[in-house]
Amino acid sequence: MTFAIVVGTQWGDEGKGKVVDYYAAQADIVVRYCGGANAGHTIVSGGRKFAFHHVPSGVLYPEKINIIGNGVVLEPKKFFEELGQLDAVGIKPNIKISPRVHLVMPYHVAQDGAEEGRKGALAAGTTKRGIGPCYSDKAARFGIRVGELLQPELFREKLHTMHTLKVKLLKEVYGVDFTQSEDEICKLYTEYGKRLAPFVADTGEILSDALSKKKQVLFEGAQATMLDIDHGMYPFGTSSNTSAGGACTGSGIGPTAIDEVIGVVKVYTSRVGAGPLPTELNDATGQAIRDKGGEYGTTTGRPRRIGWLDLPTLRYAAHVNGLTGLAFTRLDTLSGMQKVQVCTHYELDGKKLLIPPASYTDIARCRPIYKSFAGWDDIGADKWRACAKGGMKSLPARAQAYLKFISGEVRVPIYVIGVGAGREDTIVLKEVFSKKA
Ligand code: IMP
Ligand code: MG
Repeated sequence: MTFAIVVGTQWGDEGKGKVVDYYAAQADIVVRYCGGANAGHTIVSGGRKFAFHHVPSGVLYPEKINIIGNGVVLEPKKFFEELGQLDAVGIKPNIKISPRVHLVMPYHVAQDGAEEGRKGALAAGTTKRGIGPCYSDKAARFGIRVGELLQPELFREKLHTMHTLKVKLLKEVYGVDFTQSEDEICKLYTEYGKRLAPFVADTGEILSDALSKKKQVLFEGAQATMLDIDHGMYPFGTSSNTSAGGACTGSGIGPTAIDEVIGVVKVYTSRVGAGPLPTELNDATGQAIRDKGGEYGTTTGRPRRIGWLDLPTLRYAAHVNGLTGLAFTRLDTLSGMQKVQVCTHYELDGKKLLIPPASYTDIARCRPIYKSFAGWDDIGADKWRACAKGGMKSLPARAQAYLKFISGEVRVPIYVIGVGAGREDTIVLKEVFSKKA
């Protein structure tokens, strides 16, 4: 029996999907615990491509329970689009949604755009999916939860209060006309409520039952540590607890249930959105990695910013998440370079920093100090796949040295190494779930 969390250690898009997909195959339950339609991942299965935002990665397996935990914010329209993709190929996923999940309302989306426009240099470059305003309303106790959609009178009353307020806020503060009427939203969301009702269940209790029955549970992180509302690079992150602690608060199970926390590490850095990025490569090397890795956002299509691997960030992620294992991705993408650099620490005001400072203004002043590694050859897709079979020892020696150095510096063992996009292109050094007969 294992309860395991998979979490991004950098700024998102580390390739969590691939790692999650591997472990999901062995789990009984897969849980999403944070974020909403800001997340985007593509799953290729049986030659078919699915673009998901909310649904957990176990949905393609009909026998698995997929939980959307209370820490998630749900945009019903997008959720039903995802179900539509599954329905089109005859898959009826087993999804359970917590009644405590907050709803992204149309005015949140309008507010996201309006607020970003006013933040100037402090705009995070959000996905404009209404995530920030929805979590703000949750914290301010203004939010509307999925469970309340199932109580039409209560829903109507709350919507009336919020709609009146948001129309005024958008008009008088932001100069934006929000034209969708209360009646229109009420009708739309009442209909969503009827369609959501069969999915609503006490997901915390399902997990506690799974614990007593010694089931295997995978908590699937969305976004990443540096985007966490508390531990990320505030304010250039998202609005939920994306790090491992969020798996507990966002699903309703206590920290003592968790056995493993696997941090996904892309062997270089990327991010979408604004904020300082100490190891950023604004040059031909950065462009070459972007092109080779197809580094463009899944949700927004934006080109991702690229940089060298940043050890201060990784050390910090190891502490914040309590990592028990590392899952490296994209070793093949970083191949074929003469030299590869790793930032071992920062220098700030004459001091050596091993982890990032709290303030983004300080991070912006940090000077990254690099260690150079000789690059490894791009041996081509077939040989990379052969390495996946042959294990770590069959990897190019320089690539092994690079990975061992990183693991040693952050003091977390290597569990997984990704050497290509496919399921078969994965070296697994340590299993976390006991294999089923
Ligand atoms: P929001 O979550 O839409 O409010 O966006 C806040 C910041 O987080 C922006 O810089 C986004 O680009 C970033 N972000 C949000 N979700 C993801 C994700 O799933 N992957 C990578 N970056 C993300
Ligand atoms: Mg993504």
